Amino acid sequence: MKPSILIVDDDGVMQETLSDVLKKRGYEVFSVGSGSGALSMAKKNVIDLILLDMRLPDIDGLEVLKKIKEFDTEILVIMMTAFSDVQTAVSAMKSGAYDYINKPFELEELKLLIEKGLETKSLINEVRRLHREQKEKYQNSHIYGVSPQIHYVKELIGMIGKTHKTSVLIQGESGTGKELAANALHYGSQRNDKPLMKINCSAIPDSLLESELFGYEKGAFTDAKNTKKGLFELADGGTVFLDEIGDMNPFLQSKILRVLENQTFMRVGGEREIKVDIRVIAATNKDLETMVKEGFFRKDLYYRLKVMVVEMPPLRDRPEDILLLSNLFIEENNREYNKNIKGFSEEAKKLLVQYSWPGNVRELRNVIERAMILTDRELITPKHIPFELKQTGKMVHAITEPEASEIPFDMSLDNMERVHLGNVLKKLEWNKSKASKSLGISRATLRAKIKKYSLAEN
Ligand SMILES: Nc1ncnc2c1ncn2[C@@H]1O[C@H](COP(=O)(O)OP(=O)(O)OP(=O)(O)O)[C@@H](O)[C@H]1O
Ligand SMILES: [Mg+2]
Repeated sequence: MKPSILIVDDDGVMQETLSDVLKKRGYEVFSVGSGSGALSMAKKNVIDLILLDMRLPDIDGLEVLKKIKEFDTEILVIMMTAFSDVQTAVSAMKSGAYDYINKPFELEELKLLIEKGLETKSLINEVRRLHREQKEKYQNSHIYGVSPQIHYVKELIGMIGKTHKTSVLIQGESGTGKELAANALHYGSQRNDKPLMKINCSAIPDSLLESELFGYEKGAFTDAKNTKKGLFELADGGTVFLDEIGDMNPFLQSKILRVLENQTFMRVGGEREIKVDIRVIAATNKDLETMVKEGFFRKDLYYRLKVMVVEMPPLRDRPEDILLLSNLFIEENNREYNKNIKGFSEEAKKLLVQYSWPGNVRELRNVIERAMILTDRELITPKHIPFELKQTGKMVHAITEPEASEIPFDMSLDNMERVHLGNVLKKLEWNKSKASKSLGISRATLRAKIKKYSLAEN
């Protein structure tokens, strides 16, 4: 669509000249000679940009500008002022004009100003659109599940979203949706118009992590040629997500604590306190309490973070979510790979529900994706499902013989014995008398085998 421009000037020659030039440039052009005419034109038509003369016969240009901005904040207005009018030009800018140009002007100058203005406007629109998309994508409602545990997590996230500064600790095994929860927290809070800055504390070396988080002053170290803002500064007004905080070193932990307590910090090599307004969300799959006891994590920071904990439940504790998520991932992949897979065979469903999912939802997502790539039918069957899942599946139905085809041909007997022992012990909660009975061996033999394969209860 052509961008549209409204020319507002009572000078007929000016109107015509501008109109000709701009039409040639490919814009859609309207023109009027009065302030009241400008207002009604701007209300009736979709206008992207207005060239507005400051002196009009009826209403003052500045008044017209203010009235237009009342009903359309997005319209770009370029004021055309007389040379001596610097003061009014300044008030025009304050009232929301995009820019001004002094009469008489070069047409080339005006053309550039218009181009730059329209470009800025389309960039702003693009950023707004992306932001809206992000918000929709990461709302709380995108944490799927029907289990009471997931309901609770969503409710909790909703409540924390209403608080403003409280920092949050998200705990949970790998793949349980910690990052998903962090997104939902940020995008569901009043901070959602401000940035969410994420950093993975385990992926970056300590020295780099410090300057990423806090920024540095010019000359702080050899490579610091310029000052650089850190995430805490860039996220001002928004949220900082510290992923894998359990891997952060104690020195940085103490700096984080200070940010949490005073909302202030200094850049590396800096002497000035910088004040920010941020919420910190930290996530970990480590047991921080034990780390505190063993001296690997600062107690004071732990207690500070522990005030608000979101615990992401492991998938095996909420089997009712497994098929729901599986179907969701099928839909997603159908779209992605342009397939039309309807679901799972009954045996496949059984396998999915019975498996213990040590890698949680991420593992489930991967298993489904792989199965969908492998199948050319409408239903996913056990054939498309990895070996590990069948292992535990068989456990529950210990009476049925495993099908020879389900055991990988290249699996050694030792390895089979190890896997089977592990499964039986886990299933029977490490009750060794029950396990030895089930396996048909003596307790002494069982003990010897546990030792041989270094099996341990976890
Ligand atoms: N409840 C859920 N509904 C829909 N998708 C989910 C859910 N939980 C997790 N996922 C999906 O599972 C994958 C893993 O989630 P996420 O990255 O948030 O986990 P994590 O706990 O941060 O994992 P890690 O500890 O490995 O970093 C993502 O693709 C995510 O979208
Ligand atoms: Mg993660």
